[in-house]
Amino acid sequence: MLLCLAVAGFAAFGSENAAWVLALQSRLACANTVFSLPDTPFMHKIRVADSTQTVEAYNLPEGLRWNARRRLVEGRVATPGEYVYSVEVRNADGSVAFAEGIRLTVSSHLQQPVPHMGWQSWNVLEMGISEEAIREVADALVSGGYRDAGYDCLGIDDAWQAKDGSRDADGVAAIDTVRFPNGLRAVTDYIHSKGLKAGIYTDGGTLTCASGKQGGGTLLGSYGYEPAHAKAFTEWGFDKLKEDWFWKGHGDDSGRLDPASTELAYNLYSRMGNGIKAAGNKILLSMCEWGIHEPWKWGPEAGASSWRMSYDHRDGWMGSFNGGQNSPTQNNGGIGLRNTIDLMRHLWPYAGVNRFNDADMLVVGIRGKGTSSNDLVYGTKGMSDAEYETEFAMWCMWSSPLPLTLDVRSTSINSHDKALLLNKELIALNQDPLGQQAEWIKTVGDLDYYCKDLADGNVAIAVVNLGDDTATYSINVADYDALDTSATYSLRDVINHYDAGTLGASSAKTGSLKSHATVVYRLERQ
Ligand code: GLA
Repeated sequence: MLLCLAVAGFAAFGSENAAWVLALQSRLACANTVFSLPDTPFMHKIRVADSTQTVEAYNLPEGLRWNARRRLVEGRVATPGEYVYSVEVRNADGSVAFAEGIRLTVSSHLQQPVPHMGWQSWNVLEMGISEEAIREVADALVSGGYRDAGYDCLGIDDAWQAKDGSRDADGVAAIDTVRFPNGLRAVTDYIHSKGLKAGIYTDGGTLTCASGKQGGGTLLGSYGYEPAHAKAFTEWGFDKLKEDWFWKGHGDDSGRLDPASTELAYNLYSRMGNGIKAAGNKILLSMCEWGIHEPWKWGPEAGASSWRMSYDHRDGWMGSFNGGQNSPTQNNGGIGLRNTIDLMRHLWPYAGVNRFNDADMLVVGIRGKGTSSNDLVYGTKGMSDAEYETEFAMWCMWSSPLPLTLDVRSTSINSHDKALLLNKELIALNQDPLGQQAEWIKTVGDLDYYCKDLADGNVAIAVVNLGDDTATYSINVADYDALDTSATYSLRDVINHYDAGTLGASSAKTGSLKSHATVVYRLERQ
């Protein structure tokens, strides 16, 4: 019998502090604040750390049902509103371990129903940013077909601020009038005139990450002036904000170490989130906290809809320090593709519609010729065709935001890389309205297996070869709870665009994968 208790803490529903504390204190190993567009397929997988425990969801709003076999809530909710449903967790002996409430927001005004796509200035322009360069990029996004493929948000990253550390009367960082002589409104007007959206950058600290870099000067972040910045960014016409986490100038002022607590991180980002709401709620908040304080647990409560889950992703297979792993006490910075995969593998239960884990800017196409994307790489800078395919395929499987950073203005873009980035079949997986980050199914030897549920009831399966040698994979229906052992599925290779036969319980799909390569099949039940 299910417990009909007042689910832990939800007496305080509506109090933002309580909500984020609940999010952090959750004993579930999955999201407990979830989102859906009205009348749109929804899925929420309920997971706990202890595999001997069982789970059950109840008090579900009309339109949703509990799938006990797969341990997930699914369906669609027609009526917008705020809902709470309950999850009960039982021990192996049948006793109740705990029960928790899940907050579901159904709204047609979500910040990020599907991951944002676009282009971000940092990896290529870096300190060379200017109005002229941004206009050229806007033109190239259109003429190169990127906008029409979905890359529709042109993001101005760091270094738009005045180099002398000055601020306006409201406390907002002044604009660099050398780089942007006509201000930023003129730039967003131009970007919008091209049918694009406009993104801007700030830092949660007093200074930005590029502050003090060669040619950087003193670049102000928004610490202490978050609402004023949110208002200014809104007035300047921006649609998206990337808020960084240099954290310099507050707490430990010694540099890049991070002495801050999760509570401080939450407070800092929620000040911006609240500022955005107060200024008319027109801006998508993309947190760039580097994954230090597990932002996938509290990002939505701070008013964000995606968050970086690692330090900066570099144009190489391996990052330079400590294997590129995140650490709360050390800013390692160098996150190669292999490191990103290792960090992302376990984060899938925390992603969903309007709450995406951001694997950072894509380096596909930079080919080792970027600016700081070239730093902190172990071994070779730039990646192989197979590695870039793995990067783009996994960003799509994960439903990570997709900001391009290759120089789209260049007349010598590698044709493999451009075709990859414009691959409609992969982009469709990324933009699938169910918003599911591919579930990590298993690792066998050097091969990682992933499965992504899709809104039409089908799935995509990916296999990644993390090893240095060619390996043979075997996809077996029985390994995937999303698949029906009595059915036959057709397979579509969506990296190479061909129909690849069928899969059924008695016929595993096997194949050979080169080192660091990935295969992605979209399955369709026959
Ligand atoms: C940090 C961020 C990067 C970029 C730079 C800009 O390193 O993580 O994505 O925005 O700052 O200075």
